[in-house]
Amino acid sequence: MIPDRLLMGAGPSNPYPEAMAALGRPLLGNLDPDFLDLCAETCARLQQVFRTTNPLTFPVGGTGSGAMEAALANVVAPGDVVVVGVNGAFGERTCEVATVCGADIVRVEAPWGEPLHTEQLLAAHPHPTVIAVAHAETSSGVANDLDGLGAAKGDALLVVDCVTSLCGMPLAVDDAEIDIAFSATQKCLGAPPGLGPVTFSPRAYERFIDQPRTWFHDVRHVARAHLDDPRAPLFRQTANIPGMFALHAALGVVLEEGLDHVIARHADAGRRLQEGLAKLGLDSLARPEYQLAQLTAVVVPEGVDAHAVRHRLREEFAIEISPGLGPTRDTLWRFGVMGHNARTGPVTLLLSALAEVLGR
Ligand SMILES: Cc1ncc(COP(=O)(O)O)c(C=O)c1O
Repeated sequence: MIPDRLLMGAGPSNPYPEAMAALGRPLLGNLDPDFLDLCAETCARLQQVFRTTNPLTFPVGGTGSGAMEAALANVVAPGDVVVVGVNGAFGERTCEVATVCGADIVRVEAPWGEPLHTEQLLAAHPHPTVIAVAHAETSSGVANDLDGLGAAKGDALLVVDCVTSLCGMPLAVDDAEIDIAFSATQKCLGAPPGLGPVTFSPRAYERFIDQPRTWFHDVRHVARAHLDDPRAPLFRQTANIPGMFALHAALGVVLEEGLDHVIARHADAGRRLQEGLAKLGLDSLARPEYQLAQLTAVVVPEGVDAHAVRHRLREEFAIEISPGLGPTRDTLWRFGVMGHNARTGPVTLLLSALAEVLGR
């Protein structure tokens, strides 16, 4: 039997029950007018959570990495300069995707746990094609400081990875003058994995290149059709139809609760978790000013077997937490409070189970 788990790691998180129920609805066909209506409504809901009026706002097939590829591959041609903020695993992944696009990459680095700042990103190159940075670096729990970056970017397109930030912390794509923002469904949005919401500003759309180095994430056809008719099919391949049902439902939950309330709920749950972790004597990797609410990376105490603790949490308490990524695999734990789990109840369960496992 497949067990139930409370997913308190870096994502996926447990989706809203409404999203899980929507997964079980009878399938519609790709071109069914009722499915196209649902897709159009989902895009309108995505505009609300991204806080944008960009007409080109839709989910791509695939997860956050697919959305990252769609975001970069449609605007980066071989030889283009791409400034990438790298202070964790997802900055590294951005470099990998930009490399696939043939970019000339300028890395702006900060140690894991430290934030990147607007001035550093702006100073890296006088006229890049793209400046790419993660809003919330999930590998370290750091919020990057993007204040004023959109306004000062000049000719560059600003591409922001919002995989862990969308619905989990304040984000306003239009106010921040972000040209391309992308996300994933399985984190603070509260849906299962499988779709990658993306929004392109009109400025970004004007710069779509002729031969993107991708077939799957070449969104020109979808974009053209979608600009003509918001009910045009969103996918050139078979749509993830249950995923769309679930995303539509999760967005409905978020908007009914109110986006600001949802974000405040993440802030509150994150604060409770971080206070509890501190009481257990665990240190966060990120400094408090740059600490995300929705993802906390803590340093595994000396002498404690990181993997044994995760194993016991999973097997004895049915709670999942995440290990560190890459070089931090054995030295960090990552705790998430995302979407449906950004509440006092799951946080309390996690903290009491952890206290018991650690014997503290
Ligand atoms: C900041 C960030 N960017 C990109 C990704 C990649 O998303 P996915 O795993 O959905 O492909 C993740 C996943 O954790 C992430 O946290």
